[in-house]
Amino acid sequence: MLKIGVIVSSTRPNRFADTPTKWIVEKASARNNLDIEVLDLRDYSMPFFEEAMSPAWAPSQNPVALEWQKKIEEKDGFIVVTAEYNRGPTAVLKNALDYAYPQWNKKAIGFVGYGSTGAARAIEQLRTNAIELQMAPIRVGVHIQGQVFMSVLMGQAKLEDFDFLNPNVDDLLNQLTWWTAALKNAREADAAEKVAA
Ligand SMILES: Cc1cc2nc3c(=O)[nH]c(=O)nc-3n(C[C@H](O)[C@H](O)[C@H](O)COP(=O)(O)O)c2cc1C
Repeated sequence: MLKIGVIVSSTRPNRFADTPTKWIVEKASARNNLDIEVLDLRDYSMPFFEEAMSPAWAPSQNPVALEWQKKIEEKDGFIVVTAEYNRGPTAVLKNALDYAYPQWNKKAIGFVGYGSTGAARAIEQLRTNAIELQMAPIRVGVHIQGQVFMSVLMGQAKLEDFDFLNPNVDDLLNQLTWWTAALKNAREADAAEKVAA
């Protein structure tokens, strides 16, 4: 089984985030090789980054950051369910990315975005952030946008009503699974080599 963390990027009260999270979790859980866990940033309340050094260089001090890092370490890959705030990712999500480093390395990450443009602009920034974290951001994103986003936000429709999103979700899950499995094998081969050395 591949362990996938589904990261919820918004922590505000009455967030929309729960709707696309539930939707993608149901679809991903239907795959027999994915073990899905929701990582809700509400459960990892970290201050704006204030460690003495980047987690790339020194262990963190903040106890919640240590918990967050342990959780990220456990996972093989990630789906980020992301809002777009002022054409970028939410601050709470960027902060959570900054609060780990080796734990992200050599893992795949895919995105489900929502908003007027399906969070396309936030996701492009997040892909660049992921490269710096030595991750493999996958090509396909699911973008819940325009009228689809508005009608679900206003309670006039459900995401399940929009079948045309399904092939896109399948592509996302297929690519994420391929990269996650490939990188897991490669990480395990690295670890075995180290033990043998
Ligand atoms: C501070 C802020 C900035 C926003 N900026 C954008 C934006 O740049 N693009 C967009 O499509 N929607 C934007 N929105 C609208 C969000 O898409 C909408 O509020 C969405 O519900 C936010 O996700 P959430 O409810 O899960 O927090 C913004 C919302 C907030 C609160």
